[in-house]
This record gives sequence, structure tokens and C-alpha cells, in this order.
Amino acid sequence: MLSKTVESALNRQMNRELYSSYLYLSMSAYCESVSMRGSAHWLRLQAEEEKVHGMKFYDYLIEAGGRASMLPIEAPPSEWKSVGDVFDTVLSHEQKVTAMINDLVNLSIAEKDHATNNFLQWFVKEQVEEESNAGDIVSQIRLVGDVPGHLFYLDHHLGKR
Ligand SMILES: [Fe+2]
Ligand SMILES: [Fe+2]
Repeated sequence: MLSKTVESALNRQMNRELYSSYLYLSMSAYCESVSMRGSAHWLRLQAEEEKVHGMKFYDYLIEAGGRASMLPIEAPPSEWKSVGDVFDTVLSHEQKVTAMINDLVNLSIAEKDHATNNFLQWFVKEQVEEESNAGDIVSQIRLVGDVPGHLFYLDHHLGKR
């Protein structure tokens, strides 16, 4: 059984995962608008993954005897300065999500909720991968700089995800 504190913290995290999906979809739409179709494709798939993350919280809330609540989803930004700016934002967003997951793990320990702690370990591992993937793309964009031909090649590569 979930405590009310854990239940509402899990609901807030479900909301943040759905917000992440919305944010990445907005980034995908921006990339489409500047003809960076490979980046748009990568971000669209990322948006799908975040929806799956949100649903993992939804399913766990129900399975653990709690109630899943649909909190309002914040509207994400819609404009970025460049594709480099987009991926810098992806990385900093993922770092923020990692901090949120760590706070949730700390809460599960404080509440002696071993089942929730165990459920969250998947996300602890996932965040290492998320930060690493976003970090790689940020470094690759840094490496190609603003050489349009190289950026086009990188965009093509992201489209193969
Ligand atoms: Fe996520
Ligand atoms: Fe993520």
C-alpha cells in the first residue's frame, strides 16, 4: 500500500514524464520547421519513450493500490535558437529529471517503501542512459560547429534512430 505522500509524488513524476513527452514533441515540431528532419525524427521517438515512462508510473500507481491522477500538463516552449540549442536543452532537462528521480528514491527510503524503491531503480538506470545519449549528441554538435554540410550529415545520422 502506498502512503499518500508517495502516491502524490509518483503522480507528480508521471506528470513530469508526460511533460517531457510534450517538450520533445514541441522540439520535434521546431526541427521540422527548420528542415532538420533527422533531428525531428529522433525527438519524436524520444517523445514516444517519455510517454512510455509516464505509463510505467500510471501502471505502478494502480498495481500498488494507489490512484493515478491526471494533473495539468504544462505547455512547453515552442522556439529554440538552433538545433544545438535544442539538444543543450534536452541534456539539461534530463539532468533535472535525474534529480527528480533521485528525490523520489530518497522519499521511498524515508518512507521505508521498498516496493516503490525497487520500482524506481529502473528509472535510476534509465537516466544514466538518457544523460549519456543526450550528452553524446551535444558533443557531436559542438564538434561539427556551424559547418552546414557537417550539421546536415549529423542530422541525417540522427534520422537513422
Ligand atoms: Fe523519462
Ligand atoms: Fe528522458
